[in-house]
Amino acid sequence: MIELRQVSKRFGHQLAVDAIDLTCPKGQTQVLIGTSGCGKSTLLRMMVGLVTPDSGSVLFEGEPLDELTLDSVRQRIGYMIQEGGLFPHLTVRENIAIVPRYLRWQPSESDVRIKELLELTQLPIALLDRYPRQLSGGQRQRVSLMRALMLDPDVMLLDEPLGDLDPMIRAELQQDLRIIFRELGKTVVLVTHDLAEAGFLADRVTLLSHGKIVQQGDFSELIANPVDEFAAKFVQAQRPVFA
Ligand SMILES: Nc1ncnc2c1ncn2[C@@H]1O[C@H](COP(=O)(O)OP(=O)(O)O)[C@@H](O)[C@H]1O
Ligand SMILES: [Mg+2]
Repeated sequence: MIELRQVSKRFGHQLAVDAIDLTCPKGQTQVLIGTSGCGKSTLLRMMVGLVTPDSGSVLFEGEPLDELTLDSVRQRIGYMIQEGGLFPHLTVRENIAIVPRYLRWQPSESDVRIKELLELTQLPIALLDRYPRQLSGGQRQRVSLMRALMLDPDVMLLDEPLGDLDPMIRAELQQDLRIIFRELGKTVVLVTHDLAEAGFLADRVTLLSHGKIVQQGDFSELIANPVDEFAAKFVQAQRPVFA
């Protein structure tokens, strides 16, 4: 569904992404994992055309992402940025309906879709008229998820969607995400720095370090056979405390 071929991106002296090849197959969840600053967010931004690679290509269903294809491709991608990105001065309903309004949907059409998504994300309807600051962290993430799902996109790009949540809420949302992705058959690229989360959600895992792929494939393979010292350390550092 999405393919990166030898993409590189430099910011000043910083090589953020270094000749990466990555395939995100249709209907599967690809998890990007790695320490802070290794290039995960930059990779997602390339997939949605917010960052243009210095070299290499980004393909969406085999077609290169360029000025001609970008608009239509964007409407097929739900993108949830790090920190959720809700507008503080807009209500939940207004936040969720931003893109539909831009696309000139009838308000009634929007309302039907919002109702469906409230059910899917298990949010009470009473929250629609609140502002983001009047929600809990978990609720805010669910609203961001709703917004990303609004156009029923084929692809979901999620940048640390469960970043700052406490462990119980996080576990709950992980469960729900897995159910939602499987039920809807979405192609998902999810960024995390949490190994357990990767294991729970991923069909394929890509471990990154300093803009390069260290290891790619099955989660169980990463745990059992880390390819180098960095991979081994990364796995070791996140062993459950009670193991
Ligand atoms: N817009 C930008 N301008 C300058 N440097 C950037 C920019 N975006 C990312 N970087 C740098 O590129 C590297 C990778 O960043 P990022 O993709 O955000 O990493 P991650 O999401 O894995 O934490 C970091 O060193 C970061 O400081
Ligand atoms: Mg990031």
